[in-house]
Amino acid sequence: MRCVVTGCAGFVGSLLTDRLLRDGHTVVGIDNMSTGREDFLGAARRSPAFAFHRVDLLDTEALPDLVRGADIVFHLAANADVRFGTDHPTRDFEQNARATLNVLEAMRTGGVKKIAFSSTGSIYGEAREIPTPEFTAIPVQTSLYGASKIAAESFIEAYCEGFGMQAWIFRFVSLMGERYTHGHVVDFVRQLRTHPDRLDVLGDGTQRKSYLYVDDCIEAIVTALERADAKVNVLNLGHDEYCTVNDSIGWICARLGVQPKLVYSGGNRGWIGDNPFIFLDCSAMRALGWAPTLTIRESVERTVDYLRESEPALR
Ligand SMILES: NC(=O)c1ccc[n+]([C@@H]2O[C@H](COP(=O)([O-])OP(=O)(O)OC[C@H]3O[C@@H](n4cnc5c(N)ncnc54)[C@H](O)[C@@H]3O)[C@@H](O)[C@H]2O)c1
Repeated sequence: MRCVVTGCAGFVGSLLTDRLLRDGHTVVGIDNMSTGREDFLGAARRSPAFAFHRVDLLDTEALPDLVRGADIVFHLAANADVRFGTDHPTRDFEQNARATLNVLEAMRTGGVKKIAFSSTGSIYGEAREIPTPEFTAIPVQTSLYGASKIAAESFIEAYCEGFGMQAWIFRFVSLMGERYTHGHVVDFVRQLRTHPDRLDVLGDGTQRKSYLYVDDCIEAIVTALERADAKVNVLNLGHDEYCTVNDSIGWICARLGVQPKLVYSGGNRGWIGDNPFIFLDCSAMRALGWAPTLTIRESVERTVDYLRESEPALR
């Protein structure tokens, strides 16, 4: 396949790019390098099947020529950090909703019919149904990130209906693993490197979260593209288990060999838009024959090991 990957220099996009190249596809990678990292492109750049374009998705002029002729666009570029949404009230809209519309317009004018999109479990807000299935009642939004992602999903669905496109929309839980750059594990590891005797924790540590190993996520994306063939395929991507933030702290501290004093900010939400309980019903993805290979604990431990090795490169 001739693939376009937006966000190809990010945590997930770079690993997906490497996987697509290994599978024998060609990849046109697009990234503005706002959070992307040149070192994540190392393997891809050695492949003659990869072409990189440092382009911002808000630059509508450049996009149609880059996507024209592609079989599919994997649209992963985004402002991926839910926590700081209210510090920049329009950023999620610009980077996630408007950028997605720009990608869709470039696809429409360039004659590209298939899109795979990285959405998020955050679109469920504080879900009433847990485990949360894909077709739960339209949720109340609690974060600008979630709001922008469900808006992006909606545009994708309308473009499928209006312009004969086909979509795979993946709602991920938080991912972990190699090239992990943002989230609670990196926050905690950084803190514990600076002061191993104290760990500041947002919330009260009882928040329940489901996490997924990033390679399991990528395997699910590849599997769904082969086996799900509706016009619009909406799929939760998560684990069959969850843990508390305190569980995760225990695993991280044991791995690092530290016993810090835990200092909680209090309340069962770490920040505005934090969800005290995220647990997705992933039976639709399971029915396609996919299953996670690592437990949440193993994912956390593997992420800690990666961060210890790559610390000098942490941004
Ligand atoms: N990592 C997770 O736990 C997680 C969970 C749920 C959903 N997601 C979604 O998966 C996708 C990838 O997330 P990630 O963790 O790899 O994030 P990331 O920040 O590592 O990657 C995003 C990439 O997009 C690029 N980018 C951002 N805005 C751009 C723009 N306007 N034009 C061009 N490039 C731009 C960045 O430079 C970066 O390389 C995102 O859509 C995110 O919302 C991630």
